[in-house]
Amino acid sequence: QVVDKGNHRHFMLKEIYEQPIVVAQTLRSYLQRMDERVTLPIPEGDLSAVKRVTIVACGTSFYAGMVARYWFEQFARVPVDLDVASEFRYRAPVMEPGGLALFISQSGETADTLAALRHARAEGQTIAVVCNVPTSSMAREADLLLSTHAGPEIGVASTKAFTCQLAVLAAFAANLARAKGRLSREDERAIVEHLAEAPASLNAALALDEAIEQVATQVAPARDVLYLGRGTDYPLALEGALKLKEISYIHAEGYAAGEMKHGPIALIDDAVPVIVIAPSGPLFEKTVSNMQEVRARGGRVILISDEDGIAEAGAGCAATIALPRVHPLIAPIVYAVPIQLLAYHVAVQKGTDVDQPRNLAKSVTVE
Ligand code: G6P
Repeated sequence: QVVDKGNHRHFMLKEIYEQPIVVAQTLRSYLQRMDERVTLPIPEGDLSAVKRVTIVACGTSFYAGMVARYWFEQFARVPVDLDVASEFRYRAPVMEPGGLALFISQSGETADTLAALRHARAEGQTIAVVCNVPTSSMAREADLLLSTHAGPEIGVASTKAFTCQLAVLAAFAANLARAKGRLSREDERAIVEHLAEAPASLNAALALDEAIEQVATQVAPARDVLYLGRGTDYPLALEGALKLKEISYIHAEGYAAGEMKHGPIALIDDAVPVIVIAPSGPLFEKTVSNMQEVRARGGRVILISDEDGIAEAGAGCAATIALPRVHPLIAPIVYAVPIQLLAYHVAVQKGTDVDQPRNLAKSVTVE
């Protein structure tokens, strides 16, 4: 299959822009809205016995798994163990019978993740795989294949595969919750409704492209950048920092907003942009108070929130990015767009090779 950039300057930008369509396409296989049920292509009985979920992945796929941990625990009340694939096997992980091991991979070929999958199989786990390439090794070795329908991803830095992974993982968490008898019809209907809103919200986020390009001019000269978030926005902070590192070569760190006072706050001065990811929701006030700690020390804050959040806490920030207000469930999907676009524009302003960053490979097939 030949893929071209269309009217876009880079594959990465094209793939960022494809997200409303490919997330909708992916959700179509997992949401059945007719009778307000979330469906998955497996019998419910298979999931009701799951006692524990072990999530393993690398890179951006790992951060999707980290978001999913919140959903599995919150909706299904099933304990979740999470690790990067390169560490997983070496700590003698405890996997009891009846466990589900979930591997997330765009390519389905990442050597560390594949080795971890085989280890979990040898430990008697049921193997679920969230993957974008149905013919890949991981897809073939899965007991339960949960495909993302992002289409071929060419840019080395993953974008559309990530949001599609999140869409599948949210639907899967809801399905597990239902199988465990933890999801009321009403909650189920709400989850389906919120997920179904994701494509439109992604479009609204893409409409901020030019504003984000402007904000990027404040980040491009920096040597170090911090990203802060709480709850499911914490993995997003990690993913934002990873995107920036990968394609702009700026040193960036993602931190749990509340943990910042235990170290990184020592880095704060007006040369370090601090990107705060804080959608309206139950954790907003707490994150904002961490943001004020940064501001009180002369930090240059870029706040990514929604109109309500910016109205409440935007004063005094060096820049703000105001997304439409979305339900906290889909916030990690929608907030992926501004962090991707920010990294993209910083890289373009710095003149790096966006689609083929130095030293990186699209798929890492060595351990
Ligand atoms: C490489 C890519 C990343 C990707 C990671 C995991 O490092 O550059 O973009 O997130 O591998 O790849 P996977 O195909 O397993 O998701």
